[in-house]
Amino acid sequence: MANEEQNVGNVKQQLAKLFEVALKSTVPNEPDVDPLIAICTAKFGDYQCNNAMGLWSRIKGKPNEFRGPPSVGQTIMRNLPQSEMVESCSVAGPGFVNVILSRNWIAKSLQKMLNDGIDTWAPQLQIKSAVVDFSSPNIAKEMHVGHLRSTIIGDTLARMLEFSHVDVLRRNHVGDWGTQDLHAFVRLLRIGVGNLLMKNTLKCTYEDEIQDSVIGCFREKITHVHCAWLNVVVEFNLSSMFGMLIEFLFEKFPNWEDVNETAVGDLQAFYKASKLRFDSDPDFKEKAQKAVVRLQGMGADCEISRSEFNRVYQLLGVHLEEKGESFYNSYIPEVLKELTSKNLVEDSQGARVIFIEGFNIPLIVVKSDGGYNYASTDLAALWYRLNEEKAEWIIYVTDVGQQQHFDMVFRAAKRAGWLPVEDNMYPKVSHVGFGLVLGEDGKRFRTRNTEVVRLVDLLDEAKSRSKTALIERGKDVEWTEEELEQTAEAVGYGAVKYADLKNNRLTNYTFNFDQMLNDKGNTAVYLLYAHARICSIIRKSGKDIEELKKTGTIALDHGDERTLGLHLLQFSEIVEEACTNLLPNVLCEYLYNLSENFTKFYSNCQVVGSAEETSRLLLCEATATVMRKCFYLLGIVPVYKI
Ligand code: ARG
Repeated sequence: MANEEQNVGNVKQQLAKLFEVALKSTVPNEPDVDPLIAICTAKFGDYQCNNAMGLWSRIKGKPNEFRGPPSVGQTIMRNLPQSEMVESCSVAGPGFVNVILSRNWIAKSLQKMLNDGIDTWAPQLQIKSAVVDFSSPNIAKEMHVGHLRSTIIGDTLARMLEFSHVDVLRRNHVGDWGTQDLHAFVRLLRIGVGNLLMKNTLKCTYEDEIQDSVIGCFREKITHVHCAWLNVVVEFNLSSMFGMLIEFLFEKFPNWEDVNETAVGDLQAFYKASKLRFDSDPDFKEKAQKAVVRLQGMGADCEISRSEFNRVYQLLGVHLEEKGESFYNSYIPEVLKELTSKNLVEDSQGARVIFIEGFNIPLIVVKSDGGYNYASTDLAALWYRLNEEKAEWIIYVTDVGQQQHFDMVFRAAKRAGWLPVEDNMYPKVSHVGFGLVLGEDGKRFRTRNTEVVRLVDLLDEAKSRSKTALIERGKDVEWTEEELEQTAEAVGYGAVKYADLKNNRLTNYTFNFDQMLNDKGNTAVYLLYAHARICSIIRKSGKDIEELKKTGTIALDHGDERTLGLHLLQFSEIVEEACTNLLPNVLCEYLYNLSENFTKFYSNCQVVGSAEETSRLLLCEATATVMRKCFYLLGIVPVYKI
């Protein structure tokens, strides 16, 4: 069959096909018996079929030929069609059918992959299109470590889906939503510090939070005096603050239009200086207040510079397509009309809300001042993604703190009939939550003295630390400057990503440079080095690996060769599992174990100069190929020498 041919890598699926036949002949009268195939946990086999017990409880009340689960298992085993993939079977305990795969078949599958490419091992998913909503910083605030996590996790999920032939819309749902009254500020700032986009967020309630976020914005360099990001709730405070900043800019730089980012410098200091001026000089204060009024009258488009976000994406090699909150603005009224006509929306204390069973607070969709909010935007975005973009799976990557919000939005959509009620049917929505990034002190991660972590600085530091380590190993002498830079980047950024991805995303993780850059243990550094070592084994053999692929054959006679070979073959189903359960750590664990299995093989099986050299070199190449694909899916750039 074409499918079988195509995805020879998915052992589980292929075994499931065999067992499907066996189950049909075992219990011909039972409908919908899905084969339950799992990797063997015990030593009895490589895979096991777990249907016997369940089947027994289904049929024991009816007339049947069996004496209990083990005899069901025996019959399933006897009915298993002949296949070159199976070496032997046995029944254990209460009816598990254990399968030992044929070494020859494993070897042949690996060889086929080497010749046809690892893309033939791509999982086959039920869906063809997906939206992954990730990163999504607020233009308002600075991008923080939470957004870094979202960016890293979301990118990996998108990569895994893309590898599985799903069309993925990589959505940057940036918080750029503004209400009418806030547009005044947009105009105001346009003149003073360049283009600005606002967000009317419910998240900032306190004045110091607002101030913080403004300082956060201004801490960013103004690119070509162009960029300023704001997050506003209380307009008055900000009006005067903006007036103050703008006036100070005018004063300090009469030719402010020509001023570049370095001249303006640290915006936090800039803010402080202007505040000092504002508090101490009544004339300045008056000017600043007038500036607000004057500037409010001016109109301009919001041209937003997203240079800071883009820097981070560029460093991480992450591609995103922006469709911010404001994009869905015009869809909100229609969507709310539909929800209202379906009797979902009701009045509550001046606001329009959707009550959802099991939640003690309703989902507010129109605020009491008539404005829309985060929830109305998400409902409109969901509608758009389902109806306009025809997404079959919509995945939202944010911190777990937003779980309730998404639960409520999803439940509302189900009530509206936009989504099937059953979770395992499509179209489907999933919230991919993740925990906090913690510092050494166990508290929320912050850098030395600033409040918010500068992501670019963080990545720079990872890179420079990995560079230092490489220099300590004498690589600055051995390599060109370019090689040194590229390796430092691959290792540094890879380390940050891997440290994030290797944990179950729901757990908080502690950010620690020393740990993530350690070359021993479960780190990207260790794995990248392991890959480079394999490459160097192949290089040192002096053999043309492309030629060997065509002419040589793999044999898996040594136990460690077989273990490694089988592990390689499980790549496809692992990616599928990581994809369907949205758990990148599953792939990390696979990669780490692959490296361990390789080490074991390499220390017990001589490669270069041995009688099995060709076969073993091919096994090295297969390992390196699978490792590279894992790196690729995790967004890590491989290195080839160390
Ligand atoms: N901008 C939001 C935040 O920083 C995340 C947006 C997530 N996506 C969504 N469709 N709500 O918290």
